[in-house]
Amino acid sequence: MKLLNRSLVLAAAICLGAFTGFSQTAKTAEDTPKDYLSAAFHAGRRQALRDLMPANSVAVIFAYPERLFSNDVNYVYHPNPDLYYFSGYKEPDAVLLVFKDTQAAGDSSYNELFFVRKRDPQREQWTGKRLGVEGTKTQLGFKRVYNGDAFANFPVDLKKFSSIIYDKLPDDATGDGAGGLKALISTFKAKAGVPDVDKQLLSDLNLINQRGTPQNIDRILNYLKPKLNNEAYKKNELIQLLVSKPDSATLVTVKAKINADFSSMAKFTEYTTQLRGIKTPEELDLLKKSIRISSIAHAEVMKAVKPNMSERELEGILLYVHKNYGAEDEGYPPIIGAGGNGCILHYEENSRMHLDNQLVLLDVGAEYHGYSADVTRTIPANGKFTEAQKAIYQLVYDAQEEVFKLCKQGVTYSDFETKTGEILANGLIKLGLIKTAAELRKYYPHGVSHHLGLDVHDKGAYDGELKAGMVITVEPGIYIPAGSPCDKKWWNIGVRIEDDILIGVDKGTNLSADAPRKWQDVEKMAAQPSIFDTAKFPDLDTKK
Ligand code: GLY
Ligand code: MN
Ligand code: MN
Repeated sequence: MKLLNRSLVLAAAICLGAFTGFSQTAKTAEDTPKDYLSAAFHAGRRQALRDLMPANSVAVIFAYPERLFSNDVNYVYHPNPDLYYFSGYKEPDAVLLVFKDTQAAGDSSYNELFFVRKRDPQREQWTGKRLGVEGTKTQLGFKRVYNGDAFANFPVDLKKFSSIIYDKLPDDATGDGAGGLKALISTFKAKAGVPDVDKQLLSDLNLINQRGTPQNIDRILNYLKPKLNNEAYKKNELIQLLVSKPDSATLVTVKAKINADFSSMAKFTEYTTQLRGIKTPEELDLLKKSIRISSIAHAEVMKAVKPNMSERELEGILLYVHKNYGAEDEGYPPIIGAGGNGCILHYEENSRMHLDNQLVLLDVGAEYHGYSADVTRTIPANGKFTEAQKAIYQLVYDAQEEVFKLCKQGVTYSDFETKTGEILANGLIKLGLIKTAAELRKYYPHGVSHHLGLDVHDKGAYDGELKAGMVITVEPGIYIPAGSPCDKKWWNIGVRIEDDILIGVDKGTNLSADAPRKWQDVEKMAAQPSIFDTAKFPDLDTKK
């Protein structure tokens, strides 16, 4: 889907440029972006990792696998954010080893080793240039770099380390021969004596450990429910303990045991969470850019939207703006849902042909040099909110405003959730949609905030207090699908408003403020002319 979307967007971008005269600066071969993270930034992050690691330890970070799109075509490759963070390397088939202590090697020494994808002129003619050993040295500043196929016989004894720190290993890695990811992982397992554990189970234990709080145990159990019949889950005593006694005391016990039993993964998550949770100024520059690009795209779509447009057409407009500013990708599949589709939280089909007079929920964020925005706006396709739509919109807006006021150093995620629950429940009771606060979850089934960065749901602490330099979302929402037990006038109204906030010592800064939020401002923006108003394409007469 991604590849297809990319070519459609590119085609649309070219056509729209010609039809509308949208100002496009000419791009030359030398005119490539200059604002990538520097080699010094990545080296600094590796040192920060070393500073957290225990004595006599090594951290091992693999590239993500490539994944099949169709037959012999892969999805556009997306690097592992952790590997990118610590190295700047964006290709598959690589493994980085970061040592706490300097390792002696003959008459020299090292504290990091990098095994990367081999150069291959024949393959490069088809799929583009590779950085290779030399490029990784000169452009990314590493000293000890080797082709991946050298890992198997490289004289490094991983078993001698007291602690090997690594993330869950993908179990669907394919390979590119001896230097491919599959081979790198099996070499690592042999060198380190690593046991096999069900990857999905490991991933869920990690999730419980990282994101489980007394407030969200019910949501975690709901999420686990469909997997509880899998053998690995049935046999896992920690999952069984949480399911049989889902309270805060059990959560504390379960988290402590995850940390003890899966310490390699727990440490990896702990360190990367600590580091990536607080954004450096260099990262903030990129994150602000992706958020600004996304906010401008949302404002453009407000001007352009018309009832006879399709969900996918709006997607094309948003992506066109993103690409115009040089964003390489989307941080997550765009969610564009009109009417009832707006009530599906992660609706990705975007297949409705006509928006009609519905409310349209757009949760779309650009990814710029790896950093993802996460912005949602909900807009009336015909430019005017109905009274019922306005009432729900205003309630969600009020909840967001109140959470904004809490956004500063020292506040906790639970404070956000408590405040959101209070405002939304009171509002829905007043509107007659629910009778008691206990019913709120029917119409507000998700959380109000998460960290944002290289991952849309980024690494960052969810317990304890928020700190200056964190970037989080604030995203209350109310979703009332058709058939809900309430007056029909509310049916098919789905509203989420989502902004990206930089936490400061005394206050937060809304980084997505370029996209109008107040219903009055949304209507004003919708009344503006759009460059897309005159975009017209030939009819598709396939019978000709
Ligand atoms: N775009 C996914 C989310 O808001 O969390
Ligand atoms: Mn979000
Ligand atoms: Mn979102």
